[in-house]
Amino acid sequence: MQISGSMGPTLIGKQIVLGVTGSIAAYKAVALLRTLLREGAIVHVVMTQSATKFVTPLTFEVLSGHPVSTDLFEAHQEMKHLSLPEQADAIVIVPATANCLARAALGLGDDLLSTMLLTAQCPLIVAPAMDGGMWTHPSVTEHVSALRARGTIVVNPEEGPLASGRIGQGRLAEEGTILEAIQTALAPRRDWQGHRILVSAGPTQEPIDPVRFISNRSSGKMGYAIAEAAQARGAQVVLVTGPTALPAPRGVEVVSVATAEDMTKALSVRLAWSTTVIMAAAVADFRPKYPAPQKIKKQERTDQTLDLERTTDILASLSAQRTTQLMVGFAAETSDLIAHAKDKLTAKGLDLIVANDVTTEGAGFGSDQNAATLIDRQGAMTELPLMPKRALADAILNRAHELLRTRQSNQTPKPVAGGR
Ligand SMILES: Cc1cc2nc3c(=O)[nH]c(=O)nc-3n(C[C@H](O)[C@H](O)[C@H](O)COP(=O)(O)O)c2cc1C
Repeated sequence: MQISGSMGPTLIGKQIVLGVTGSIAAYKAVALLRTLLREGAIVHVVMTQSATKFVTPLTFEVLSGHPVSTDLFEAHQEMKHLSLPEQADAIVIVPATANCLARAALGLGDDLLSTMLLTAQCPLIVAPAMDGGMWTHPSVTEHVSALRARGTIVVNPEEGPLASGRIGQGRLAEEGTILEAIQTALAPRRDWQGHRILVSAGPTQEPIDPVRFISNRSSGKMGYAIAEAAQARGAQVVLVTGPTALPAPRGVEVVSVATAEDMTKALSVRLAWSTTVIMAAAVADFRPKYPAPQKIKKQERTDQTLDLERTTDILASLSAQRTTQLMVGFAAETSDLIAHAKDKLTAKGLDLIVANDVTTEGAGFGSDQNAATLIDRQGAMTELPLMPKRALADAILNRAHELLRTRQSNQTPKPVAGGR
């Protein structure tokens, strides 16, 4: 069966919670898991107690590469009923029993999976499987209708021979049909369509002489991920980047610069064009005051002093020039993360700051992953766990988009009392 055609993986970096419930078709979730992984998804499996009677958690654990959660109370320390749905791009329940559909429709929360559904904000896709008589039972019909009415994507079971030996509608839908429903639900959002985003990325290089410079460890990965994500979500994006080894994100206009001065100019001239500015670059705070026109020769002396001067504070300068742009900055810190980030947010007049502790293991410079706390002007904080930079980019864009929407709705004139 050809599922993704020649387009390559279609779910790269998508975080999917695969819920497996106690149906005879539970073994088919194993094949689906492998397909989702092949499509590039990161899959966390949650099983009901009944599901574990049909397939062992170990099977899903080994294949997914993540522990399988089965118990609300065992997982309580990590608050999985909150953390898994929060990180998920979609929850997919395959197969979904009649019992699970009823719990979901009624809003019961008596196990991990059903409690997760009460906290989830992401799309929910369910693929029921049961005997034909169950599928047509009025209670199941009502629960399915209630779920559909709330936006749940229900992949109908198919007609055919059932495990009971009867013929009827109840067989779990074909894997390709379920995958298509997942792909459609996770199709790129276009919520940034009509926006023009200016993103900065990478380090700057401040020349000491024609062959030497002062720089930092920034790889540019975070800024590039933001540019890529914003473009995928419909924005027009200009990426002003210091020197990096990264390929230009598709569909993004890239402006390459070297020094903090170049970066300031490149951003300033594009500020008026932009509707949102996201400054992920690690710009040098100081530069050599007297860069030598020729390579500095090794001298007899054993030490050499460099005079440094402040570079332009890009964030403060853009913030001072801005009109209506939403401004997002980064605070890469090694200590007192939140306090420093809050100070920077206020000092630079930002709308949102992404605070990340670059000493966190597996996060920060050069890594493909990052963990961060988003802080807005009102002091609202969103803590984001360690995740791929591309997923973090989407989370930052989600928050920035919310701020834009709030700003818009605050600007919309309130209807006059008694008016029509
Ligand atoms: C052998 C066997 C097969 C079953 N298959 C299904 C099924 O395909 N669909 C279904 O809705 N229930 C099926 N059940 C009943 C469920 O396992 C039962 O309702 C259980 O409480 C579901 O729990 P869960 O929804 O928490 O997983 C089956 C039960 C057994 C013993």
